[in-house]
Amino acid sequence: METSELIFNGAKTTELVKKYGTPLYVVSENYIEDRCKEIRNDFLGKYPNTRAAYASKAFLTLEMARIISREGLGMDVVSGGELFTAIKAGFEMGDIVFHGNNKSKQEIEMAIDNGVGRIVVDNDYELGLIENYSKEKEKITKILFRITPGVDSHTHKFISTGQLDSKFGIPLSKGSKNTYIEKALRMQNIQLMGFHFHVGSQLLENTSHLAALGILIGLMKEVKDDFGFETLEVNLGGGYGIHYTGNEERRKLSYFVNPMMSMLNIETKELGLSMPRVTIEPGRWIIGEAGITLYTIGSIKEIPGIRTYAAVDGGLPDNPRPALYDAKYEAVIANKLNEERDHIVTIAGKCCESGDILIHDLKVPRLQPGDILAVQSTGAYNYSMASNYNRIPRPAVVMIKDGIDRLIVRRETYEDLISREI
Ligand code: LLP
Repeated sequence: METSELIFNGAKTTELVKKYGTPLYVVSENYIEDRCKEIRNDFLGKYPNTRAAYASKAFLTLEMARIISREGLGMDVVSGGELFTAIKAGFEMGDIVFHGNNKSKQEIEMAIDNGVGRIVVDNDYELGLIENYSKEKEKITKILFRITPGVDSHTHKFISTGQLDSKFGIPLSKGSKNTYIEKALRMQNIQLMGFHFHVGSQLLENTSHLAALGILIGLMKEVKDDFGFETLEVNLGGGYGIHYTGNEERRKLSYFVNPMMSMLNIETKELGLSMPRVTIEPGRWIIGEAGITLYTIGSIKEIPGIRTYAAVDGGLPDNPRPALYDAKYEAVIANKLNEERDHIVTIAGKCCESGDILIHDLKVPRLQPGDILAVQSTGAYNYSMASNYNRIPRPAVVMIKDGIDRLIVRRETYEDLISREI
């Protein structure tokens, strides 16, 4: 008889549940490898003088850093904690891009001491801190400026970052832009390499990227004319969208990078600029669809004439995205894959929070407590955004390669929860 259970990357999900319990994050290493390969084939290998840095905020553990390093990518970090993880994983520091809109003095010192490849400068205050510490250490620090291109992207406003009214980046009004650039060019321990933008996240169209790139190329021309500064590098951020539900499909990398690369090639030539080194920074696109989360169904509550709630043993603490961004997910009942989905339920989390609803109106077979729910595309911004709200321990993370499972993060315990308390 055909098995009626979900097999994920060659691993039986019911076996994983028996072995590791729920909730459980399960990640496919093969999937990550496939995405990295696509980056190598369709970007790094295809275009000279290019780099790709994995945006580690999407999902970072020591093992993830090792995989990314082995796959030949650099890494984008936005905090001392992410940088610390990269250091501990033995990541090549020259391949690190350090971001953040309010890097602390301590974080900047940590980055410079460890020799991170690029610091992407967001503001004036930070520029001063970098110059001073570099001087003290007699080092030259290579920086890019993060610019605010002033384009609106079509995504949730909480993950849209390219618009002018943004806490990120330097605005491009002539006055403020010139001040930054003049200042950086005068600094002795700063080497300005170029510019960075990130327009937003989960974008399924390339229009915002192209609009921002047009503005960036205009800036490259201006700084050459005004200051004789030739832009050596541009970093085009991440934001490439993936499949969550319905018809939205993950875009091929080429859909984003090909038109950007041809625009850069053509327009720099036309304007008499040299072609800069180009970096991209995908996060979600690499890891999002690599992950699923397994939960056990507990209480099933039917409110006659209204709806049925099926509650799982996790929710908002392991996946805050539905509550934060109204994010939508698809899911299946992992142990009843072939049964007819003739019931409609709302999947509730276990938090004391009415907004803790993972999925509205999911079609499922007849449910019983103990059934296993598998939520798809949870690889990005789930584990990395997880909390201990209601003192719920964070789930374990299991990596699957060719059907073989290995634990890469053990489940948090109650003892872990109080371990820092005095
Ligand atoms: N580079 C920079 C400078 C970024 O700020 C980000 C994301 C990325 C790259 C990677 O973006 P991605 O390729 O993953 O879309 N927590 C939100 C997403 C916030 C993204 C913030 N920055 C969510 O769960 O949707």
